[in-house]
Parts: sequence; structure tokens; C-alpha cells
Amino acid sequence: MQTTEPAIRVHGLRKAYQQLEVLKGVNFEVARGSIFALLGSNGAGKTTVVRILSTLLKADDGSATVDGFDVRSQPARVRESVSLTGQFAAVDEILTGRENLIMIAELRQVGSPGKVADDLLDRFGLTDAGRRRVGTYSGGMRRRLDIAMSFIGDPPVIFLDEPTTGLDPEARIEVWQMIQDLADAGTTVFLTTQYLEEAEKLADRIAILHQGTIIVSGTLAELRLLLPPAKAEYVERQPTLEEIFLAVIGDKKGQR
Ligand SMILES: Nc1ncnc2c1ncn2[C@@H]1O[C@H](COP(=O)(O)OP(=O)(O)OP(=O)(O)O)[C@@H](O)[C@H]1O
Ligand SMILES: [Mg+2]
Repeated sequence: MQTTEPAIRVHGLRKAYQQLEVLKGVNFEVARGSIFALLGSNGAGKTTVVRILSTLLKADDGSATVDGFDVRSQPARVRESVSLTGQFAAVDEILTGRENLIMIAELRQVGSPGKVADDLLDRFGLTDAGRRRVGTYSGGMRRRLDIAMSFIGDPPVIFLDEPTTGLDPEARIEVWQMIQDLADAGTTVFLTTQYLEEAEKLADRIAILHQGTIIVSGTLAELRLLLPPAKAEYVERQPTLEEIFLAVIGDKKGQR
């Protein structure tokens, strides 16, 4: 049954760029309707995983399914099921924000593209900016437009590669709320982030990619069990995700 199948299933995924082995056997599953955060240092391979799962890049070995479809043998079906945004997503600079949204809505054959665009502009605080060419937008405005584009057509799986990088704190909180709303409505969200607080707040499950494999994964509560609580002023304090991240990465440093 579709409903019991995980939204994303990754097994033994490997990828090298020439001599550089980035993924050396990555395994994980993402349950439908959940928020999954993939963490890792710069260059760990997070974007590589996202690109493979969204069929922009071919893995060297291993398998991956998204929404039940195999990324290697059914890439067109996968593309129908996903939308992605982030480091590599492109908005058209010449078009206005509204025109960009309408273009995507038409591509995805969504009814009333103009209304869809206006609703999204409103939700993302871009109603006034929507009439201007994207070439004139600030980094934060571009990022919000980029995320708005990924919401069009209600895809069952959304990839967000560092969705809040470059956003100010207020905009970041707004995006968090939107991500939460998406998941509450049943969308599966696959997120990468440099902000551990973001994963802590949003993610149902967190995985840490380090030196080519997932070295730790689980709920925040499970990850917390990896570290003893710090004792400060007689009050036990739970470790933050940042402390856990640094501890597990540190443990593995120097190991090959
Ligand atoms: N097309 C490519 N050709 C060669 N090397 C690449 C290519 N794309 C990525 N790499 C290398 O692969 C490694 C993983 O890159 P990737 O972009 O997946 O990391 P990341 O975890 O997303 O990093 P960041 O946090 O900086 O976004 C890096 O060392 C990067 O330089
Ligand atoms: Mg990246």
C-alpha cells in the first residue's frame, strides 16, 4: 500500500566526483508527512543527496525511491512528485515575482495560476514586490520567492536545501511556520540546514552525514541520549543539537 511505503527510501547510495568519494553508502528512510533534516558540515554531501533524490544527478551505486518511484528507472515520475528549492534553484531575473510564480503554476498545470500566484505573494509578504523584476530583489526576497515556487501544485515531497540561509530572523520564523504547515497538511519535507536550531524546532527525525555515511540518526530525544545531560547549577540541562552534532562529528574526526 502507498500509505505504508516511506516517502523516501535510500539504500547504499554512493557517489564520487572523479577521485572524491562524497557518498560511501548512505541509508535512510523518511516517513510520509514527516519533516526530515539532513545535517552535515560544508562539503559533507547534503546537496549531492538532494540532487540525486530529485533526479538532477545520477548516483554511482545504491538505490533510492521517492514517493514510491525509483530515481534511476522512473525519473519522470519522481519529478512529478517532488519540488525542490534551495542553493541551486533558479528564479528568472527578467520576470517579476508574480510572473515567475505564474510560469511555474502553468508548467505544473495548476488551475487559476494568477490566483495561486497572488495567494503565495500574500503568504510570503511579497505582494508589493511581486510587480517588480526579480533582478531588483534582496537576497531574502529571492529566497522567499524561491520557496513560494516550491509550494505550487502541492507536491507530496518537498526538498528544501538550506531554505533559510540568508534570511533575517523574522523571515526565518515565517518560513519555519510554513514548513510546519506543509507537514501538518501531509507533505513530506526533506530539509538540509546549517542552523541546528532549525532542525531542532522542525524535524521529526534528524540524520547527520559525515565522511560519506549517516553516522547518527533519530528523533531529537534519541540523539540527546547520545550525550549525558550537562549539570549546571544543580539543574540538569538537555544537550542542544549543536552540542550533539559537534560531539558526534568530533568522535569521528580522524577516522576513515
Ligand atoms: N559537480 C561537482 N564536481 C566536483 N566536485 C563536486 C561537485 N559537486 C560537489 N562537489 C564536491 O562534493 C562535496 C560535497 O558537495 P555538496 O555540495 O554535496 O556538499 P554540502 O553538504 O551540500 O555542502 P554545503 O554545506 O557547503 O552546501 C564537496 O567537496 C564539493 O566540493
Ligand atoms: Mg549544499
